[in-house]
Amino acid sequence: MLIRRPSDIPYSEVTSKNVYLSRRKFVAGVAVTGAALIADRLGREIVWPSLRVQAGTKLNVVRGPFSTDEKITPFDDVAHYNNFYEFGTDKEQPATLARNFRTSPWTVAVEGEVKKPKVFDINAIMKIAPLEERIYRHRCVEGWSIVVPWIGFPLNGLLKQVEPTSKAKFVAFESFYDPKQMPVARFAGISFPYLEGLRMDEAMHPLALLCMGMYGEVLPNQNGAPLRLVVPWKYGFKSIKSVVKIRLVGRQPPATWNLAAPREYGFYSNVNPNVDHPRWSQAKERRLGEFFKRKTLMFNGYADQVAQLYAGMDLRKYF
Ligand code: MTE
Repeated sequence: MLIRRPSDIPYSEVTSKNVYLSRRKFVAGVAVTGAALIADRLGREIVWPSLRVQAGTKLNVVRGPFSTDEKITPFDDVAHYNNFYEFGTDKEQPATLARNFRTSPWTVAVEGEVKKPKVFDINAIMKIAPLEERIYRHRCVEGWSIVVPWIGFPLNGLLKQVEPTSKAKFVAFESFYDPKQMPVARFAGISFPYLEGLRMDEAMHPLALLCMGMYGEVLPNQNGAPLRLVVPWKYGFKSIKSVVKIRLVGRQPPATWNLAAPREYGFYSNVNPNVDHPRWSQAKERRLGEFFKRKTLMFNGYADQVAQLYAGMDLRKYF
């Protein structure tokens, strides 16, 4: 992956403290418990293909579990420092080149080793479970990290809908790909559609989030609208964006970066400060916007939740 340092971000892209605080206030203000609320801030039901559902549309959310109380990275950093190679390999390219990306209508096919395969409309997916806000650490394999208030619900909520069979051992994910809308993708040096995979128990883990929004709003296109994965104990490239297909399978599925450079990017790619990338150390990371590096935590700080998934596994071999 191409590497750019946080210091490359122009100051103009950093949200002022006031803007950031008012966003936080809004999210706290709409936090409610109970019923599934798929509504905008006026309480009107959101219908995805409508023009109202653009980046900036507010979502009602319930407060979810597992959130960190670390300082949240400013929205503008998270929305202007992206890896989304379909829209360019420079960090600031996706925000511009994905601006007109058509995210509606949108469907996600969930199929394979399941009793009830189904093609879900995005509106139907948003009604499966209450939308939760979860503030997760997100660690990129390149050495930078962010703290993001994502909005979504556990991926297992969607998978349970299709009733996986006992043959389902892994879950394969596929991103949308359209060379017409993504003309620069052909210069990216990796193949598309972007592919990722999880083991079945990882996919069913309550930390693994099916994500439709961030900072109280629907996802900006460059962050993977309308629907992406967020797997916070793994390096960022496992968190596949703009998903259109989910296939439950018996064998370990192909994954884009693992295919491109298998010695550098393993299938598991759990955040692990003790296993270096062949070309750089993974012991430390730099939070976007901060000067000093901090120590990277095992499983990105989620060891209490996920370490048991890997009990007895040699994490140097299965990196
Ligand atoms: N998904 C797709 N479809 N294409 C990509 O290039 N990049 C991955 C991941 N998901 C990528 C993707 C990488 S390398 C990272 S670090 C995260 O998205 C970045 O997510 P963010 O831009 O929201 O921080």
